[in-house]
Order: sequence, then C-alpha cells, then structure tokens
Amino acid sequence: MDSKYKLDDINGSEIAFQTRFLDMNTVDQLFQASFTSAPGVIASAPGRVEIIGNHTDYNGGTVVGACIERRLHVALSLRSDAVIRLVSSSEGAIVETTLDAYSSEDVADWARYPLGVFDEFSIQFGASSGFDLAVTSDIPTGEGLSSSAAIELATALALNELLGLNLPVSALVGLSHRAENRFVGVPCGLLDQSTVGFGKRNALVVLDAASGRHHSFAMPSGHNLFVFRTHIRHELQHSPYEQRHKECRNALVALNQVIPGTRHLAHLHPLDIAAYDVIMDSVVARRAQHVVDEQRRVGLFLKHLHEGDMRAAGQLLTASHKSSKELFENSTPELDFLVDGLNQFPHVLGARLSGAGWGGAVIALTTSSFTSEDANRMADAYEATFDARSHWWATQIGDGARVESH
Ligand code: GLA
Repeated sequence: MDSKYKLDDINGSEIAFQTRFLDMNTVDQLFQASFTSAPGVIASAPGRVEIIGNHTDYNGGTVVGACIERRLHVALSLRSDAVIRLVSSSEGAIVETTLDAYSSEDVADWARYPLGVFDEFSIQFGASSGFDLAVTSDIPTGEGLSSSAAIELATALALNELLGLNLPVSALVGLSHRAENRFVGVPCGLLDQSTVGFGKRNALVVLDAASGRHHSFAMPSGHNLFVFRTHIRHELQHSPYEQRHKECRNALVALNQVIPGTRHLAHLHPLDIAAYDVIMDSVVARRAQHVVDEQRRVGLFLKHLHEGDMRAAGQLLTASHKSSKELFENSTPELDFLVDGLNQFPHVLGARLSGAGWGGAVIALTTSSFTSEDANRMADAYEATFDARSHWWATQIGDGARVESH
C-alpha cells in the first residue's frame, strides 16, 4: 500500500465517523462504566473486504479476502454466577440474560453474535460461567465489511483466553462460523471468519473453502485499495443471501444427477454448466454459471498478482462485478454506479462489490496515482445521483484478530 494514505484518508462526513474512533482504552472505560469492575481480557478484530470470489465460499470454492484497519474491541470478564450482560457503545441499553435463559430470539440483534460464540464454547467445551462483555467498534455495520465476524472472533479469542483453552485460531474460526450458522441462523461460508482470524498486515488471505485451508499472499506494493460505501444497508438473515444459498444447492443436486459425486459447485468446469443447463431452472443455471466462472477468475487473479500484472488482475475484479450483477443478481444500482464510475478513472484498475451484495461497499484497486480528489469526484457524482454521499477511504490491509491485554 502506498504510504501517502494514512489509516483512513477521510473525506467530508467521514470525519464525524472518525471522531467516534474507539480504542482499547475506551472499551475498557465502557466496561468499567457499565459493570463497575475491570475486564479480565481485551481482544480486538478487524473488518474485512472480499477481494474476489463472490459467493464461492459456501460452494466449496476459493475466495480472497483482506482485513481492513478498522477494528472492533471486546472486553470480557467471567462471572461466578449465571448472569450474562452485554453492552455495546453504539447500542445503549445493557442486554441482560442468564445461562439458562439466553436464546437468539430474545436479545438485541448485535448480541446474538457474541452469545452464539459463547454457546459454541458451552456446547463444545462445557463453558458454564456467566460473563460481562463490552464492545466498541469503528467498523460500519450492515455494509458488507463483516463487523459480525469481527465481534465473533474477538469474543472467541477473549473466551479462549479466560477459559484457558489454548485453542488455535483455526479452531476459533470454525467455532465462530458455526455460531453464525447455528445460533444467528445465517448460512454464510467461511470467508469472513477466516479473513478476520487469519489476516496479516499487507497480505491477502486466500481460502480454499472446501478444505478450510488458507495461505497468505503478499499484496504487491505501489497500489491502493479504496473502499466506497453505498448508503444501502443489508442484512443477511431472511435475505436473498439465503435464497442464493438454496439456489446453489439446487444446482448441485441437479448436476449430481448427471455428474454423480460432485461435492462442490465451484469444482465444476464452465463446460459442465453449458452442457447441462437444460436440466436446471434457468435462474439456478445462471447462479451456477456465476460460481463456476468466478472460481476460475479467482485462480487467474492470483496468477496475475503473482506475475505482477496488476492491470489484468484489476480487470478480473470488474469482470467479477459484471457476473455478480448479471448472473448472480446480487448487485444494486448504487453498487453498479460506483463500479462503472470508478472504472472511468484511468488510475482505477478494477472495481467490484465486496461481500454479499444487495448494498454494502465497493472496493477499487488503483494505481498510486488515483488521488483523494478523484475519489471525491466519484463521491460527488454519487451524491448528485442518489442524494446521499458515498463515504470512501483508502484502506491499508490490517492485521487479523488478536488478544490486546489480559
Ligand atoms: C458474506 C458471507 C460470506 C460470503 C460472502 C459472499 O460476506 O458472510 O460467507 O458468502 O457474503 O461471497
């Protein structure tokens, strides 16, 4: 990443956001103010961007993610009774429940993520003490930047520490993923938890979702990654995300009739889809086509990065977006506007929606000649069209989740 962009090269109203920047001391303060004692441990975790591999993860494909520098902090103490209390700086009221009574239905939405993680510790390791937990964050929520995986991983690290379990990060990633699937009820793949758990500064996380294995890939220097937010929030639960998940399963079931033993949609060849699309509903065939093509784009993207051909790598980001828009149908006019607009700038190498889609954020890979003025021109054009500002920043690739103090 080019060093001329600091942690957040902020524009306009992003400044208001920046002033809410909350660090380890303030989660400590929130904890003490809420629970009148010092926390036993503080852990933190970043948000993430999805670089490429849209909706390939739950189809057994490869996906590339990177941590951003915005982080969430969790302060936690175990209790000697059965009470569970959770507080978030952005939500106000303390959520209070007990070991016998907690459920995903009766608590504020945000509290289901840490409770789901605790539930996994309870199922798998017999965790049985109440706890107090405080959260502060500067990761925007509902914008495709995975604040949910951040709260899961930070909670998992904190519980791991206080329960003295010494679980490796890979176990915490799996446990957080199960918490989101089971307790929260979102059938997400492994991308978010893996990126947030395994991320390293200036490196991409390349995840083979079929095996859960990952490796790091150093991000070539001299290029920048910009995040442009739409003003459209998305929720994954009861959303088209679940619908797409089902459509992909339907494609896999149908294709197994003609290619028996196929375990993962992403492992098929584009010619398989072309040969057998008649056995699938046309919508389902389009979803399958996207997944299979996207898997090949991921491979090519990594090859281009390896060879240092950033322009070709960037074009694949834009091709990924086109496929998301036309075949997977998870884009929106706002996301398309940003991708099309950004691609008008000669120093933008490529752009695409990042994450689930249906709102959220766009990422752009740029040369170091793409300036703040350029980014502001994009945000101006967005505002003129949608009557709301697209907040943007040049992001560094940050570190993954970690224990801060105990
Ligand atoms: C969300 C999910 C991920 C992944 C992406 C789309 O971020 O949580 O598991 O499916 O959408 O690629």
